[in-house]
Amino acid sequence: LPTIRDVAKAAGVSVATVSRVINKNEYVNKDTVQKILLIMKELNFEPNPVARGLAGKKMNTIALMLPDISNPFFPEIARAVEDVAQQYDHNLFLCNSDNLVHKEKSYLEIMKKKSIDGLIIISDNMSSEDLEPLREANIPIVLLDRPASHENYSVVRANNVKGAQIAVEHLIEIGCKKIAHISGPTNLITARERLEGYYSIAQTFQWYDSSLVAEGNFDVKGGAAALQDLFKRHPDIDGVFAGNDLMALGALKELIKMGKNVPQEVALCGFDGIYLTELTQPELTTIQQPIYELGAKAAETLIKKLRGELTENKIYELDVQLIRRDSTNRNQPVVLVK
Ligand code: RIB
Repeated sequence: LPTIRDVAKAAGVSVATVSRVINKNEYVNKDTVQKILLIMKELNFEPNPVARGLAGKKMNTIALMLPDISNPFFPEIARAVEDVAQQYDHNLFLCNSDNLVHKEKSYLEIMKKKSIDGLIIISDNMSSEDLEPLREANIPIVLLDRPASHENYSVVRANNVKGAQIAVEHLIEIGCKKIAHISGPTNLITARERLEGYYSIAQTFQWYDSSLVAEGNFDVKGGAAALQDLFKRHPDIDGVFAGNDLMALGALKELIKMGKNVPQEVALCGFDGIYLTELTQPELTTIQQPIYELGAKAAETLIKKLRGELTENKIYELDVQLIRRDSTNRNQPVVLVK
């Protein structure tokens, strides 16, 4: 691997000058800068100490790239991935992309330096072309949760359409007469599939109208804002299905602020099954994704690929289940506030 000394020698300057060009912390003559940058490119010199430190060495390390470390769903995934990695003597490299393509691509750059043995990606921003360099570098990849369906990779995900249908059917079963949906960002396949599941049931009812859907951003604020919009359009909504638990929590907060009795006046169901749903009053009914199992299955699939024990690519779709709690329990005695 080329070092800073190789660059200095080839450019006929001191190591200190090359260091100044890398760190951009002191003036260097423009022509000298151009000459040094050209030589770095020719030598394929990597100035980034992290990438340089990682480059070219197999470190028994797999990486998990996830879109939002502040959403409890993803740390629960990471917990499972790390547990499985450790079982197979691998470390875990965690990359938080904030769903930003440029962040995802710069992380892939580091992986491409053959530093990582395998990669689990939670993103549907990455095209097959974006992932090609890792394939060429024989770095196995598993797509988790929200992949665009890439035929070249194994995919582990939950059954989003079915889960959404179960949520809406549950709200109907407890007596809801007009059900709204707070969808996630529809550029994400998981949000689109839950919207599809809601629509497949709701459209069969007289009360259905497309204005009963508002889009959130898979976060608390987005859920609260969408709930406000929905009730401006339809004050008589008596059931809400949110495309993930954080948006459901935002909606719950708004309903309580509006003085609504949950579930008697408005019943509420989320999606994911993160631990926060047990901490609210009322506790939140949700569609539980098998979060730990999703992470573990993705890690096991990746390790098997690493070890040459698995060559075929498969889509593993795991079942979700309804977790009934008080935000949809209309059988409980109504406590009349005196
Ligand atoms: O809460 C975050 C959402 O993003 C989850 O529903 C998960 O499925 C992912 O798509």
